[in-house]
Amino acid sequence: MASDRRKLIVVSNRGPIAFRRDEEGRRIARRGGGGLVTALRSLVTQHDVTWIASAMSDEDRMVAAEAGERAIEERARDGSPFRLRLVAHEPAAYDWFYNVVSNPTLWFLQHYLWNLAHAPDVDSGLHHAWKEGYIAVNSAFADAVLAELDREPEAAVFFHDYHLYLAPRLVRTRRPEALLAHFIHVPWPEPDYWHVLPRPIRWAIHDGLLANDLVGFHTRRWRRNFFQASAELVGAEADPDGGAVRYDGRHTTVVARPISVDPLEFDELAASEAVIAAEREIMARRPEYLVLRVDRTDPSKNVVRGFRAFERYLAAHPEMQGRVGMLALLDPSRQDIPEYAEYLGAIQRAARMVNDRFQHHGWIPIDLQIRDNFPQAVAAYKQYDVLLVNAIFDGLNLVAKEAPLVNERGGVLVLSENAGVHEELSEHVLSVNPFDVEGQANAIHVALEMRAGERQARLGAIRAHVHEHDIGAWIDSLLRDLDASAAEVGRV
Ligand code: G6P
Repeated sequence: MASDRRKLIVVSNRGPIAFRRDEEGRRIARRGGGGLVTALRSLVTQHDVTWIASAMSDEDRMVAAEAGERAIEERARDGSPFRLRLVAHEPAAYDWFYNVVSNPTLWFLQHYLWNLAHAPDVDSGLHHAWKEGYIAVNSAFADAVLAELDREPEAAVFFHDYHLYLAPRLVRTRRPEALLAHFIHVPWPEPDYWHVLPRPIRWAIHDGLLANDLVGFHTRRWRRNFFQASAELVGAEADPDGGAVRYDGRHTTVVARPISVDPLEFDELAASEAVIAAEREIMARRPEYLVLRVDRTDPSKNVVRGFRAFERYLAAHPEMQGRVGMLALLDPSRQDIPEYAEYLGAIQRAARMVNDRFQHHGWIPIDLQIRDNFPQAVAAYKQYDVLLVNAIFDGLNLVAKEAPLVNERGGVLVLSENAGVHEELSEHVLSVNPFDVEGQANAIHVALEMRAGERQARLGAIRAHVHEHDIGAWIDSLLRDLDASAAEVGRV
């Protein structure tokens, strides 16, 4: 039953807790950020969870060394205990894994980010990083999973994301009977695009994933692409109607389950002191109308085109200059990777151009803030008139679910048709093509002109949807999928 307490081994590159030292030299644990970790937090409260993650900070590595390849006992915010096993990789291997393969290669591929006339160069550096970084780190994760399975042979293993495509095969080879699931939080591209990668690499990725009993995506669109890619790239027998892929004598169930958020948590946050203080500041500075975007600075988020769209809007509607502003709250992401650092530079240049062109009498069209400040983001969620989410491609995009929950101004969501969440919310948003700058400028105009009644109705419909399909429902549906897979492999 989905509500039973069960033994789970959760595996993700970034863990739920990161350790560091404070000014007095004491070790402190900071809860890891990001949608994935937040979403999975409630698993810990309801089930016996062992979480395996990379040791990322120096202090994480110390903790891992002290634990001697064993898990430590930790507690979630509500006091629920869970076990945390940090895997300390060789630093060079981790650098190749994270800074060469996972982000500039797999993330770029899975979000269709390359301009193929110029990139990527699959050079000896990438081949080397694949072998000595991606394979090495996946092997270390697989070893940690195997050790935990020795301890709890009945536990189900729940892998996450693009960092860990090879680990399931490595585990499966040694534990044919294990129950393995994998959730992919990013898009799955069409088969042809996978051909940018050399055959052994694209083959290993699909072969690795198909070692799972269950594979989950956020949307039917990514799921469909996975069926096609599995058939074309590794010769699997895909049965989209039956919801499964047969490969190598096994059966993998493939589901589309869009992740969600906890509405209660956002109610509480919205009423918290930190958020109310941040909101006061926003209200003191805000123009009459506020267009908001809240993103990481990943190149897939399409911030530069968003600024250009706002520029076109201002040029087309001079009467709105001085009355409307864009607040861009951007969390700097992966700055050790040149492509990401360059994109952040492009964001800053683009904002500057718009501001230099239009600012007057103390009014600055784009208020660009580059920092990680969640209370400020939630405060801005309450205050926007238009929320712009114009990702090039996005697995889901949680901002589009979070912000409407607490918005107090009948805010309108302008949403990329390539964000996974579009599949659920399309009826209630203004859909845009993320490349069509003109279309986005027009959508901002339509949103700002929309009658109050219609704005409220749309906002209410999004809220109702998120309340009905909250994070608890997501977890329940995945655990039911896991039960069905366990039945399939004769585990129950
Ligand atoms: C985004 C994606 C997640 C992914 C995470 C990794 O939030 O939606 O699927 O796991 O990035 O981020 P990191 O900061 O650990 O590179």
